[in-house]
Amino acid sequence: MTAGVFVSFEGIDGSGKSTQARRLAAALDKQGFSTVLTREPGGSPGAEEIRSLVLQGDPDRWSAETELLLFTAARRDHLERTIRPALAAGQIVICDRFADSTRMYQGLSRGDLRRHVDQLHTLMIGTEPDVTLLIDMDPEAGLRRAKSRQTAEERFENFGVELQQRMRSGFLELAQEFPDRFRVIDGNRSEPDVARDVRQALSPYLPELDA
Ligand code: ADP
Ligand code: TYD
Repeated sequence: MTAGVFVSFEGIDGSGKSTQARRLAAALDKQGFSTVLTREPGGSPGAEEIRSLVLQGDPDRWSAETELLLFTAARRDHLERTIRPALAAGQIVICDRFADSTRMYQGLSRGDLRRHVDQLHTLMIGTEPDVTLLIDMDPEAGLRRAKSRQTAEERFENFGVELQQRMRSGFLELAQEFPDRFRVIDGNRSEPDVARDVRQALSPYLPELDA
């Protein structure tokens, strides 16, 4: 059996990751690929339970370090129960956020915890996506989009445009840190235009894909 392909979407809140992940999964399914569309935090029953802990309720009930451990615990469960089995079965895993989000949000938002993030990642996760699609987006537009959704999960959206600006720059720096797997896509366009670039960015990893 051939090993699958692990694709992650990253970017600030409201950049269109979930929309593009859904569109990509639908396009690949239509072409006969076997896909698993998943997300973080979450993507397995245990990790979805942790998701409610970190994204709902008073955010200050966790220290920055505890929050990092919770996100990492969720990822470990997701990896064990969803991602690794799917890749072993030769499926294409499309994941809405992965460890790069922790490098950004837990690594930068409440002090500089990036070293801890990297150490925990090495110890407990040790896996990177084959390709990471960074949907780059103007933070004000992204925040407007994110706010229009009205969900109970507003952990980071409430931090405002200044944090989103730092996250955007941080993601672009990460793309330079990991140039082999990152592809930057301009999210400030129509959904179909962004979707076409997403498929084109993936074509080297899926030679049979009709992009
Ligand atoms: P994310 O997962 O990055 O937070 P979403 O995919 O949930 O972003 O999109 C946030 C909101 O913006 C949703 O209401 C979605 O319908 C809308 N949206 C997504 N992509 C576009 C686009 N290219 N142009 C305009 N609106 C978009
Ligand atoms: P998500 O549902 O992708 O939110 P959005 O659709 O608004 O982008 O992710 C929820 C929030 O979780 C988002 O604000 C980023 C945050 N997050 C972290 O802080 N660390 C992480 O490791 C992950 C995966 C997400």
